[in-house]
Amino acid sequence: MKVLVTGGAGFIGSQLVDLLLAEGHTPIVLDNFSNGREENVQSGVKIYRKSLLSDKIERIFKKEQPDVVMHLAAQVSVAKSLESPAEDAAVNVLGTVKLLEYCTKYGVKKFIFSSSSAVYGYTSEVIHEDSPTSPISFYGTSKLVSETYIKLFNRLNDLPYTILRYANVYGPRQRSDGEGGVISIFIEQLLRNEAPVIFGDGNQTRDFVFVDDVARANLLAITNADNQIINIGTSTQTSVNLLCTLLSNQLHSSLTPDYKPKRQGDILNSHLSNAKALDNLKWAPNFNLISGLEKTVDFFKINNNFI
Ligand SMILES: NC(=O)c1ccc[n+]([C@@H]2O[C@H](COP(=O)([O-])OP(=O)(O)OC[C@H]3O[C@@H](n4cnc5c(N)ncnc54)[C@H](O)[C@@H]3O)[C@@H](O)[C@H]2O)c1
Repeated sequence: MKVLVTGGAGFIGSQLVDLLLAEGHTPIVLDNFSNGREENVQSGVKIYRKSLLSDKIERIFKKEQPDVVMHLAAQVSVAKSLESPAEDAAVNVLGTVKLLEYCTKYGVKKFIFSSSSAVYGYTSEVIHEDSPTSPISFYGTSKLVSETYIKLFNRLNDLPYTILRYANVYGPRQRSDGEGGVISIFIEQLLRNEAPVIFGDGNQTRDFVFVDDVARANLLAITNADNQIINIGTSTQTSVNLLCTLLSNQLHSSLTPDYKPKRQGDILNSHLSNAKALDNLKWAPNFNLISGLEKTVDFFKINNNFI
């Protein structure tokens, strides 16, 4: 199938492109390279270097007639969303709505959306897909509003969708600069022999899911879980303190973490049930935290340019 991958030069999107190629699909990348990297995309893959907000996007749909759109391009920073809510909404909401219009107009058969556990907000419970949504950042809000548009486009225009709400994704190619994930940031700090910085007391938990598993969830969504919202997590929570210890052990570091004040917009605990993913998407994670961290550490040791 011809699959348009927005954000296909980014961390998750580029590994999804690799998987689509390996499975015999034809991925096409749409990315403005604001956070993506040229070297993430295999040679031979067609790339449109455009913003979601460009008027020229329609031409891509007209020319390529994709069967499936996997929408990953986004303003991904919680902190930036709090500083510039309008900019966040422009990319994340308006960008998504424009794609939905073109998907409808050009007969796309499925829209697969990268949403986030940030739509849920504060909770100490295990999160199911029908748990209350109450985002505490504009990023979480823009994802939730996009979901509402996707559901309405389905009701009014019959555009099939799957919404995947990811937990904290980690793995090779995750950036450690800017708004990189905590795992790539800790690895960078430890490889530089700097004390890892923890915001808050470190007892906050995250549900860390490996990027290969997230890419596979998107692949499965081509043929499964029509018109469903699905959590993509490991059903396991890990404290940031434990994560830091695991990485310190893997990198043979005895540095003590540097604790800084908690950041606004950061959720306290995150623990996604993946029971629905198993039932509807036939998906369960293949990687546990130890095996995923090993692959990630190996990647960063070899690819110093990511640090
Ligand atoms: N990484 C995580 O832990 C995580 C968790 C939940 C959800 N998500 C979602 O998964 C998706 C991919 O995230 P990622 O971690 O790979 O981030 P990323 O920043 O590596 O990828 C996003 C890509 O979108 C591109 N992009 C940004 N604005 C654009 C625009 N206006 N037009 C075209 N391209 C644009 C960037 O250049 C980048 O390549 C995002 O939608 C993100 O919200 C990620």
